[in-house]
Amino acid sequence: MMYSKIIGTGGYLPEKILTNHDLENMVDTSDSWIRSRTGIEQRHIAADNELASDLALKASHEAMKAADVSTDEINLIIVATTTPDMIFPSTACILQNKLGIKNCPAFDVQAVCSGFIYALATADMFIRAGRCRTALVVGTEIYSRILDWDDRGTCVLFGDGAGAVLITQSNQPGIISSHLHSDGSHANTLALSGNICNGKIQGNPYITMEGNTVFKFAVKVMEEIVHEAVAENNLQISDISWLIPHQANIRIIQSTAKKLGIPMEKVVTTINKHGNTSAASIPLALDIASRDGRIKSGQYVLLEGVGSGFTWGAVLIRW
Ligand code: ACO
Repeated sequence: MMYSKIIGTGGYLPEKILTNHDLENMVDTSDSWIRSRTGIEQRHIAADNELASDLALKASHEAMKAADVSTDEINLIIVATTTPDMIFPSTACILQNKLGIKNCPAFDVQAVCSGFIYALATADMFIRAGRCRTALVVGTEIYSRILDWDDRGTCVLFGDGAGAVLITQSNQPGIISSHLHSDGSHANTLALSGNICNGKIQGNPYITMEGNTVFKFAVKVMEEIVHEAVAENNLQISDISWLIPHQANIRIIQSTAKKLGIPMEKVVTTINKHGNTSAASIPLALDIASRDGRIKSGQYVLLEGVGSGFTWGAVLIRW
């Protein structure tokens, strides 16, 4: 039986930090409102000359260094992003070129905040099918460019960043299972509906969101997907050493953990320092928890995400 295994992680956060206090000078909000409703204290904002592929490149280099893998060993690149450099070509192709890699398949996955889960599950399937040996999987986002900075309901929530992992063939898991779901009937609940049409922007070019609906849905499916992953593998929830959820709101994370009976000490959180970095939030959190030595060899780690679509999913890993 062939599996895939994570052999290196990397992350990159842009230099500029925007605190809640900075936001107090921009919209009618307060540090205490943002902290108490979301858990966010600050977020990183990309420089004007940084693109999603630039953030991805830096995170990829970190992952390659950690895995001791060179560019000629990478034979698949998948990038999860909602904020691509351009409509086409894909950010994965742009990243491939910046890395100096030739001829391997490279493509983007668009599943918004679940994007990294979808991308990792896809790369795992390529490896299990024997179609590639080593894959680079990246989540990269510059949400600061798609936010209406006059809308306090959304602009306080998001941040920019990138996270990357390298996975390779292994006889042992590695990635044990992945679980993907979508329900497109919720498409308008959380969306950026704008598009380019005949040389003009058609529709709203900024994120719109029914916050309460998203909140309730997220808590429901973040619980369900954990039950699904452990049941399929004949495990107990108590077997999970680390839960690494998408970082949208600390209250969503706490509610999920409480319903599952998982103590917060076993949940990796970065929302306070990063905000919601969409497809980058899970690989960034994984990178931090693997580098600081929290995650030990042999432990079960469960990644889970939910995003616009709605999309949701989980990847169970034996570290
Ligand atoms: N500062 C101060 N007040 C605010 C702010 C703000 N930034 N934003 C909203 N308010 C006000 C509202 O106007 C409202 O005022 P009112 O009572 O006078 O009408 C009040 O605060 C309460 O607003 P609610 O929307 O009810 O606040 P809630 O506690 O639900 O928190 C939040 C809002 C944080 C958006 C929450 O609903 C949430 O986190 N939802 C999930 C969002 C999410 O996860 N989105 C990303 C999903 S991932 C993806 O795919 C991109």
